[in-house]
Amino acid sequence: MTSVKTNSATPRSAVTGTFDALIVGAGFAGLYQLLCLCDRLGLSVRVLETADGVGGTWYWNRYPGARCDSESHSYCYSFSDALLQEWEWTERYPEQPEIIRYLNFVADRFDLRRDISFGTRVTAARFDAATHRWLVTTEAGDTLSAKFLIAAVGCLSAANIPNIPGLDDFAGDWYHTGQWPHDGVDFTGKRVGMIGTGSTGIQAAPVIAETAAHLTVFQRTANYSVPARNAPLTAEFKRYVKANAAEIRRVMRATTNGHAFTISDRLTFDVTPEERQALYEAAWEKGGLQFRATFQDLMVDRAANDTAASFIRAKIREIVKDDKTAAALSDIDHPYAAKRPPIDTGYFETFNRANVSLVDLRASPIERITPTGIATRDAAFDLDIIVFATGFDAMTGPLLKLEITGRDGIALRDAWRVGPRSYLGLQIAGFPNLFTVTGPGSPSVLCNMPVAIEQHVEWITDCIAHMREHGLQCIEARSEAADQWLEQVNAAANATLLPLATHSWYFGANVPGKPRVFMPYAGGMARYREICAEIAARGYEGFALSG
Ligand SMILES: Cc1cc2nc3c(=O)[nH]c(=O)nc-3n(C[C@H](O)[C@H](O)[C@H](O)COP(=O)(O)OP(=O)(O)OC[C@H]3O[C@@H](n4cnc5c(N)ncnc54)[C@H](O)[C@@H]3O)c2cc1C
Ligand SMILES: NC(=O)c1ccc[n+]([C@@H]2O[C@H](COP(=O)([O-])OP(=O)(O)OC[C@H]3O[C@@H](n4cnc5c(N)ncnc54)[C@H](OP(=O)(O)O)[C@@H]3O)[C@@H](O)[C@H]2O)c1
Repeated sequence: MTSVKTNSATPRSAVTGTFDALIVGAGFAGLYQLLCLCDRLGLSVRVLETADGVGGTWYWNRYPGARCDSESHSYCYSFSDALLQEWEWTERYPEQPEIIRYLNFVADRFDLRRDISFGTRVTAARFDAATHRWLVTTEAGDTLSAKFLIAAVGCLSAANIPNIPGLDDFAGDWYHTGQWPHDGVDFTGKRVGMIGTGSTGIQAAPVIAETAAHLTVFQRTANYSVPARNAPLTAEFKRYVKANAAEIRRVMRATTNGHAFTISDRLTFDVTPEERQALYEAAWEKGGLQFRATFQDLMVDRAANDTAASFIRAKIREIVKDDKTAAALSDIDHPYAAKRPPIDTGYFETFNRANVSLVDLRASPIERITPTGIATRDAAFDLDIIVFATGFDAMTGPLLKLEITGRDGIALRDAWRVGPRSYLGLQIAGFPNLFTVTGPGSPSVLCNMPVAIEQHVEWITDCIAHMREHGLQCIEARSEAADQWLEQVNAAANATLLPLATHSWYFGANVPGKPRVFMPYAGGMARYREICAEIAARGYEGFALSG
């Protein structure tokens, strides 16, 4: 039986007490929520965090090649001018160690650690109707109470380890990329099998291949990817970022996707085929998520999208020398960017190495894991290490794991049995004074996340400030408002090509048995920001507020 080396954090001394607010999670969201509630509102707040340190995603995802896909000058907080001036990124897309350094810098800069209990996993949260307070229980059995409970548990923090028969009998080591050991994994001379070709697998494969004796990539769904074109930032660019911090923030807050680039207003078929090819070539050379912004209609017009898809497929076939491998890698069954589009550093080129091979699971699915490796329908692969780059029980997974029970004893698991139902992704009917940062029904994962997180945290903070000003004790989303919002979430998704990737984790389709509901709001971050602001300005329309 394999030892699974993860970063399970050790519980600390007893964590108890009575607070104005409890926050679960110390990633980008939890840290900023803590700062806002303590410094701006003067509340007593405690953050409960499973990990031994701050960072969330960047604490857990230490796999080889882990770095962000958002560009560094946009993958950071923008609420503090001073912080924007003090911190300096080194690369276009910083690696995990640099991002975790940044989040530790933020925690120290704003003196946040004293209010965080690390090594503290929340295992249950119950609303007590008699006292109108949340009672929160930790894995160690401690209980805390608070008027407000804020789930800042992340959208991508519950690892999805597929239930493949035989894993317990595997004699080698196995790891999930989202629970990577802090002391790393030595692949030297090892036969490594990696399952999964999402953003994670596509980042990890080229780096694992550098030291492994052999890397076998098990691909279920072929994926598009565009070169990241990572590079150290020039002194000139660093100066530009500092001098233009306010303008960069303005752009990020005004765009659909929260990035620091705008989407072109050109339509795909308003240019000639030659011009289109030249524009795609230029975008390919520039690299990064901006490829999606080449034309305005790529995510709404299938024929337009097909032009981008064909361009990328042709690039894959051009790069990958072995015809059979190239065919399997470019046999992509969904529109470009209908699943979260990865960007890479030498992913397709990796398949030209002698020590890398691809297994097409559509042609021959995995049947079981054996003591010596992975058996597909047609072949057996001997492995020393299996890497699960198999993603997450996204968006709802971390919230459901909190085992939340609301008013009248309703369990969130029951309320969401047929899929998440939330008002604005911020509050759930039947769960008073519970806020979810980047919850399902908000733009969250369709947006550059620090932007989505800041907007939510600031909205929640303003809402609590409003309640205090007006002597209000309770806020709860009205059921009919949540229903209407769900209709808007569905309508927004259906106005795009996103629902055409039916196997996407945006639908929960990667987790067997999970309800198939399109979870994020696809109407764009800028529009969503306006909606939230209008609702607040109309006295928190759709929420029931009571004294
Ligand atoms: C590998 C990877 C790369 C990414 N790159 C990008 C990118 O380039 N751009 C982008 O916009 N987004 C990216 N994301 C998404 C990323 O999750 C967000 O950008 C952001 O880090 C989320 O911050 P958060 O605070 O909301 O959640 P997280 O960072 O996930 O933090 C949540 C925290 O809550 C804690 N927690 C959860 N449940 C409990 C519990 N029951 N008790 C106690 N603690 C709990 C977790 O331990 C975790 O520390 C990436 C995600 C991954 C996995
Ligand atoms: N730098 C970045 O910005 C970055 C990096 C990593 C992750 N992320 C974020 O995290 C999200 C998740 O990325 P991810 O790559 O970790 O997960 P993912 O996108 O869900 O990809 C998981 C991969 O594992 C495969 N898989 C899952 N279960 C399987 C099974 N039972 N058998 C065979 N294959 C299986 C999936 O195949 P199917 O497609 O067939 O389901 C898919 O290829 C991203 O979309 C992104 O939002 C961002």
